[in-house]
Amino acid sequence: MSLPVKRELRSSQWFREPGYYGFARRAWLRSEGFAADVFEGKPIIGICNSWSELNNCNAHLRQVAEAVKRGIWSAGGVALEFPTISLGEMFLKPTSMLYRNLMAMDVEECIRAYPLDGVVLLCGCDKTTPAQLMGAASADVPAILVPGGPMLAGQWRGRRLGSGTDGRKLYDDYRAGRITEAEWCEIEGCIARSAGHCTVMGTASTMTSLAEALGMTLPGCANIPAADSRRLAAAEASGRRIVEMVWEDLRPSHILTREAFGNAITVNMALGGSTNAVIHLVAIAGRLGIELSLAEFDRISRRTPLLANVKPSGEYLMEDFFYAGGLPALMKEILPLLDGDCLTVTGRSVRENVSQAACSNPDVIRPLSQPLHAEGGTAILYGNLAPDGAVLKQTAASPHLLRHRGRAYVFETYPQMQAEIDREDLAVDETTVLVMKNCGPKGGPGMPEWGHIPIPKKLLARGVRDLVRISDARMSGTSFGTVVVHVAPESAVGGPLAAVRTGDEIVLDVPARRLELCVPDEEIRRRLAAFTPPPPAYDRGYGRLFLEHVMQANLGCDFDFLRARRS
Ligand code: FES
Repeated sequence: MSLPVKRELRSSQWFREPGYYGFARRAWLRSEGFAADVFEGKPIIGICNSWSELNNCNAHLRQVAEAVKRGIWSAGGVALEFPTISLGEMFLKPTSMLYRNLMAMDVEECIRAYPLDGVVLLCGCDKTTPAQLMGAASADVPAILVPGGPMLAGQWRGRRLGSGTDGRKLYDDYRAGRITEAEWCEIEGCIARSAGHCTVMGTASTMTSLAEALGMTLPGCANIPAADSRRLAAAEASGRRIVEMVWEDLRPSHILTREAFGNAITVNMALGGSTNAVIHLVAIAGRLGIELSLAEFDRISRRTPLLANVKPSGEYLMEDFFYAGGLPALMKEILPLLDGDCLTVTGRSVRENVSQAACSNPDVIRPLSQPLHAEGGTAILYGNLAPDGAVLKQTAASPHLLRHRGRAYVFETYPQMQAEIDREDLAVDETTVLVMKNCGPKGGPGMPEWGHIPIPKKLLARGVRDLVRISDARMSGTSFGTVVVHVAPESAVGGPLAAVRTGDEIVLDVPARRLELCVPDEEIRRRLAAFTPPPPAYDRGYGRLFLEHVMQANLGCDFDFLRARRS
């Protein structure tokens, strides 16, 4: 093996600067107890840690950071851990998505402003992964990502429970009176029973897997459960590898190419990944000047079968997926659909990385010859109701609703929906299309995960478990049902969704990728001419910055001024 060629380090601009400030920076860093030779040409590696006790999914990342440090020091680097804002999905109001761009800015500016030669990104919960990738892509300093891994499967009275997906199903049983208060309390104690992020193919599992598909993690790193000792071993190996990456000058812009995003989209379809991946991949690509259109997602979806038998699209949990071979096994199976030449953080290609992978359970990771679904998880819909697109997870939808014509019942806002959904006199039946407005990037604001509108109690009592639901909100990756989300442009900026009224007919045709409001164009124009936007939710601070600069869902909801400039 040839030794890496030593080159001038970025950090030398701080520590080798002649005059007072070079001296002062060395002296101030030595106040942390480092020896004088720590500056002798060693790469300084930042460990960008999204640890927080306000984010349970990432609360074990201090331990992961210690393992990364072992690797960095043993490879001849200097490890310096630093915090950024962390986004705890369950706790941030109105939604963590409001703050993804803030975290991305925090990550980018920390990497750029500090004397770092390379960075290890520690993430887990939904938005922390895309935020770190967006920030690292913009800073373009060598970077490797180490996710915290999924939590162990929930266990309740002999049943294995997937956080999110099964919680929502059991909640419907609880609302319908089939689960007692005491049982519900018991479930609360054992559905999320270890460190780590949600244990189904929700947004966290999707985004960490897609980071691996993009080439930004070591092979096999994304899916190791948080509680498995191999998680720390992978962290240590990542620490060693980033030091080599610095000497190789292997940066995100070398890895995150258009072909790599094509691979990530393909993997997302084969995984039945979260609909949120569409927004995040568009945003990450935008940081590199790569425009991903929604049509590209649909083109890839049509040619990529669903192979991962993991909830909410399948039966198993992330733990099972890892034991079956994890992402390398899945990527090996779909290698004919991938660009195997793409470069990864290993310095090798995707093809080389997965060549030795093996699947040990073909029911969890299906062979191409026996897919769960002929097409990928995500379908992109267009029509007069969504001229710039809308998204549906077709593999988690009810087959009998994929072609549906029904009358709309409209909620103007999320609070109105919450107040009225369980009214006994709600004029809905199993054919109704529930429509909710003002939940988009500006309307939410922050495009909350409100798209999984609950089934009205009166219909639950009749055994109805799914309805067509349409909104400009997002949906949790752990959710299921015939739920159309990301309608663009959103209603709060006068998109056609704003024109829908209770009683209007709507056609959803997933095979034809159509979403139509059956109202004459002239009437839609007349209604939209009378549209007045809701008052802004913020008049100061970060909220105001968000409202003034956030782009629509089909453009990734990034801030317009954060996209890469072609110049
Ligand atoms: Fe963090 Fe689900 S709440 S991944």
